[in-house]
Amino acid sequence: MAFFIPEDKITEIRNRADIIDIVSESVLLKKAGRNFVGLCPFHSEKAPSFTVSSEKQMFYCFGCGEGGNAFRFLMKNEGLTFPEAVKRLARRYGIEIPTERLSATKKQQLSERERLLSINRAAMEFFCNNLLNESFGKKAQAYLNGRGFSREIIQQFNLGYAPGGWDRLSNYFSSRKIPLALVEKAGLIIPRRSGSGYYDRFRERIIFPIFDLGLQVIGFGGRVMDESLPKYLNSPESPVYSKSRSLYGLHRGKQKCRETETVYIVEGYLDLIKLHQFGIENSVATLGTSLTEDHIRLLKGFAGRAILVFDSDDAGLKAAHRTVGIFMKEEMEARIMVLPKGQDPDSFLSEFGFQAFMDHSDKAMGMMQFLTETAVEKYGLSVEGKIRILKDMQVPLASIQDGVDRSLYTKALAERIGVDEASVLEKVRSAAVQEFVQRKRQPGQTENSSSGKRENSTVEGRGHRMERHIIAMMLQFPDILPEIERKGILDRFVNDSLQAIGRTVLHHSGRPVSEIIDSIQEEKLHTLAVGLAMKDNVWDHDGCLKLLQQFERSRNRQKDHLMDEIKSAENKKDHALLLELLRKKQMQLTQGQ
Ligand code: UTP
Ligand code: MN
Repeated sequence: MAFFIPEDKITEIRNRADIIDIVSESVLLKKAGRNFVGLCPFHSEKAPSFTVSSEKQMFYCFGCGEGGNAFRFLMKNEGLTFPEAVKRLARRYGIEIPTERLSATKKQQLSERERLLSINRAAMEFFCNNLLNESFGKKAQAYLNGRGFSREIIQQFNLGYAPGGWDRLSNYFSSRKIPLALVEKAGLIIPRRSGSGYYDRFRERIIFPIFDLGLQVIGFGGRVMDESLPKYLNSPESPVYSKSRSLYGLHRGKQKCRETETVYIVEGYLDLIKLHQFGIENSVATLGTSLTEDHIRLLKGFAGRAILVFDSDDAGLKAAHRTVGIFMKEEMEARIMVLPKGQDPDSFLSEFGFQAFMDHSDKAMGMMQFLTETAVEKYGLSVEGKIRILKDMQVPLASIQDGVDRSLYTKALAERIGVDEASVLEKVRSAAVQEFVQRKRQPGQTENSSSGKRENSTVEGRGHRMERHIIAMMLQFPDILPEIERKGILDRFVNDSLQAIGRTVLHHSGRPVSEIIDSIQEEKLHTLAVGLAMKDNVWDHDGCLKLLQQFERSRNRQKDHLMDEIKSAENKKDHALLLELLRKKQMQLTQGQ
């Protein structure tokens, strides 16, 4: 990477970037003491343990341990590589990366990801040009106009048209000397069965480019213009495209999501675009897949509340039921807006307009109410029906974490279907017990993992507490580095990881901590270092010196202790133990103790 982004540029970008700005783009941050905190985008949580320090220019989640500087945040949050993250920030802060060095070796140097993204971008331009083409694009334009899409909105979403024929796109790329194997990897062409050559995946279709938050083109959807099947084709998963993490339209809607703290979630490409055309920009669409936990985590960074807009057909209701469970698990507030029979957001807006949509939106039901009402509709309120409703509702009720909420919803259900509260409560309890039993049975869950943690914190913690403390000090109070070096403190470390981090810090002494962090490449060490750097300690020179003295004393004690042990093993003529102890002693000597 250093080949095409000079190191001094990386430093310049790192110094210019402000982590608070960058994180704020996707996480709602609140000031808390010297730091900012928010809900972690990397794991699900209810109380914020995700911390960002302006002073250190780093973030760290005390819940899941993810952390690092601004580059790292972009890499993790948006799945970028390091050079991509650097370039993104360069663009954002108007820093130019010299291009001469880029072009000379560019072809070989560009990572596969970047090459796939540039292929996608070229394909998008190809599709867009086709749509704009007077003769070629006529049919597609007429189709979109016929469905009420404006010229502006078509441009805003970079819609395109894949012409008929089998190899227009593959010819386009081969004439530009782009390796077709890569174009295949991007999902745009498919190898012929005969084994030689490729054919285009998208033919005779309206094309919807899919963008990520950094405005890169990561994939495509394509719709036929008649009744043929399949109605939609989508890019396959690729190194740059993952359906379960991408949301269509978020790149254009994120700002409005922030402002309104609400996001509408729809199912179709054209639904989403129609919402935008009507000014409802705080909206996203899933991409031929149901909503996943990753989607919800992503959205939580932009809005506190989701309004799910579903068709009222059976498939829509089923999808709504599935989705409710995920929202509960991820603890994001969601409301369900069910459109009149036979309507989807696109047709509804075209027919009834903005205000009618908003009126419906105001009537959107909370998750529990939605589940109750659909169950009532399905089973009716006969005795049989009530039994079935209770059965359907027991798991969702039991999974509400908050006790007060749970009893309120229990009460509401009892009232709605006219049974007494105690019997509903009974159902909920039995479901809760069942869930608990199931959880316990799963290997590697709760019980096991928590005991693993305990073990970790004692062995690691007790043995190396002081070493950790010293590394934290080195990261947070660089004034002490000369002293560490002079006394050879790191040579006496027992923990290899901490020692390695310490050496890196010394090696980069004088550089800001957010920069030092970049030179720790190994994942485990990186995490450990960030955690230590972000601890909220207060250091002063005298305190630091004391800590170092304490450390040296304890190491000396261990040395004396070892000599005692050796003597006693000699006396007892325990040769095996003696050998072992001598080996330890030898190690101390080579480590300069
Ligand atoms: P719908 O069948 O509800 O279509 O699919 P739609 O969005 O209303 O499309 P129009 O209005 O007929 O043009 C909803 C979404 O499901 C995915 C697409 O993302 C689509 O937008 N889908 C649907 C597919 O991926 N493949 C299909 O064959 C059909
Ligand atoms: Mn539709």
